[in-house]
Amino acid sequence: MFLKKVTLLRDSISSFREYPLSIPSIHSMDQIELKKSVTFFVGENGSGKSTLLEGIAEVCGFNTASGGKDHTYDVHASTSDLAEHLRLSWLPKVSNGFFLRAESFYHFATYLEEVDTTGFRKYGGESLHRQSHGEAFLSLFLHSFKEQSIFLLDEPEAALSPSRQLTLLRILHDLTKDRQAQFIIVTHSPILLGFPDADIISFDEGQITSIDYENTDHYQITKYFLNHREKFLNDIFKEDDE
Ligand SMILES: Nc1ncnc2c1ncn2[C@@H]1O[C@H](COP(=O)(O)OP(=O)(O)OP(=O)(O)O)[C@@H](O)[C@H]1O
Ligand SMILES: [Mg+2]
Repeated sequence: MFLKKVTLLRDSISSFREYPLSIPSIHSMDQIELKKSVTFFVGENGSGKSTLLEGIAEVCGFNTASGGKDHTYDVHASTSDLAEHLRLSWLPKVSNGFFLRAESFYHFATYLEEVDTTGFRKYGGESLHRQSHGEAFLSLFLHSFKEQSIFLLDEPEAALSPSRQLTLLRILHDLTKDRQAQFIIVTHSPILLGFPDADIISFDEGQITSIDYENTDHYQITKYFLNHREKFLNDIFKEDDE
């Protein structure tokens, strides 16, 4: 793993009143140490996960509309006001990899369709548009991986069936076992979060802190739901029936 630390340069910030610095988890952020090859960001909707991931992607030099360094298409390009206040500490510095948002995957595929002259060799020999969303997503990893890369993924589960999420776990395992790749993944998926030996960082309660898998809502709510579905649903629907 290569990216060791993400620091918010608080001294460079004159005001925390506006987005994105006003988001409570960012407002209180100091630094995040990345100790594992796979780090997950979890937290409620709107807790600031995507904002921070996008900021990191921008400092890495990745296109924040999704893509790697050589993918400089600017459809839906966006910038992050946070990036100028972030410092990334590397050992060693790597520049391979990409940032991918599930929702911008289609645009990324369109771009590759337009510029690819290799018969999609890097992406499995088949246009990403002629593969399903999930198939295309997995072939991107299986075929575009180069040594020593960092991958920043925002909700990859949106493209993947449960069994394909297991395939992604296998890919994470294969790509990180020799410490050749590092992943930071924003997710709501209790399956992906189950990756062994990953760090999970919570953005809830306006704070960025480590959390154990079994203490996440994702694990607890899913487990309770699957084990007590009828009771759970009765509880949820109770008010409407009365
Ligand atoms: N361009 C923007 N201008 C102002 N506020 C924004 C902007 N983009 C996001 N926000 C706000 O910043 C907060 C954090 O958003 P962010 O997208 O980082 O959340 P998230 O943790 O990724 O949530 P989710 O799980 O729903 O994807 C939210 O309250 C959101 O409404
Ligand atoms: Mg998000």
